[in-house]
Amino acid sequence: MSTALQPPVPRPARVGYATCRGVEDVEAMPVLAAFARRGVSAEAVCWNDPAVDWAGYDLVLVRSVWDYVQCRPEFLAWARRVSALTRLANPARVLERNTDKAYLRGLAAAGLPVVPTLWVGPGDPPDAVAAADWPELVVKPTVSSGARDTVRSADRAEALAHVAALTAAGRTAMVQPYLTMVEDEGETSLLYLGGEFSHAVRRGPMLGGGFADVAREPAADQLALAERVLAVAAEPGELLYSRVDLVRLADGTPALIELELTEPRLFLDLCPDGPDRLAAAACALLPRPVAGR
Ligand SMILES: Nc1ncnc2c1ncn2[C@@H]1O[C@H](COP(=O)(O)OP(=O)(O)O)[C@@H](O)[C@H]1O
Ligand SMILES: [Mg+2]
Repeated sequence: MSTALQPPVPRPARVGYATCRGVEDVEAMPVLAAFARRGVSAEAVCWNDPAVDWAGYDLVLVRSVWDYVQCRPEFLAWARRVSALTRLANPARVLERNTDKAYLRGLAAAGLPVVPTLWVGPGDPPDAVAAADWPELVVKPTVSSGARDTVRSADRAEALAHVAALTAAGRTAMVQPYLTMVEDEGETSLLYLGGEFSHAVRRGPMLGGGFADVAREPAADQLALAERVLAVAAEPGELLYSRVDLVRLADGTPALIELELTEPRLFLDLCPDGPDRLAAAACALLPRPVAGR
């Protein structure tokens, strides 16, 4: 009988698709199926489920972790913990800087066009908000998603009351002009997978009016701005997925309203190749070969 060592038997790579409890993530099944087509064993797991063995995955894909908004410190601690055990995408340092919209201040300071915003933290006087001559205001917290705790109002007293409620809770408020173009041209989201532009979406407005999200061709100035934003916001190769959300200001120029690098809906339903593109880009991050256990 030979005593020679046998080469290790490769096992299928394993991917954890991080989601959270009580949400309907319509992108999960198509993405898990796209991994399966590549011979990768992928499963959806709740990021805050204490029973999950994160080290057992070759890659953890951060996806529909939408409840982090209520517990950002715990979420970031989880991301750092998982990063020490396996590869996390997007990386923990990206999640850390992207889960507070204060990053928009940094991008504006770097010279990128961002929606005009007044920032009011706890203890800051809201004088600039009272003085702003925008006909309608949007007030939102810096840590939010899905328009949670976001108020649109033409009534200054109502807007100031929401600012006061947010700051009293220790949060920082952002105050912006309400951009009516979200109801006609619509916000444009540009999706990048594995660092490459994949597809774009015309977004339905979330604070009134309403039409469905549909695929759209981005204009040249939108594509150019999205590329500039990504070049400033991340290192080359740092992002597995990104969504650049753009609006147009009154003068018609594009401006950034949000850069989603944490848990964006990727609108894969509006891009037939989307799930395969995401899975292919994720597989490029997997260590190979994975030795058997
Ligand atoms: N200044 C604004 N003008 C018009 N609509 C806005 C404005 N700010 C936010 N909205 C609407 O609210 C939605 C959510 O706001 P956003 O800044 O993208 O934060 P989040 O998606 O993290 O909640 C936007 O997609 C848009 O429909
Ligand atoms: Mg948004």
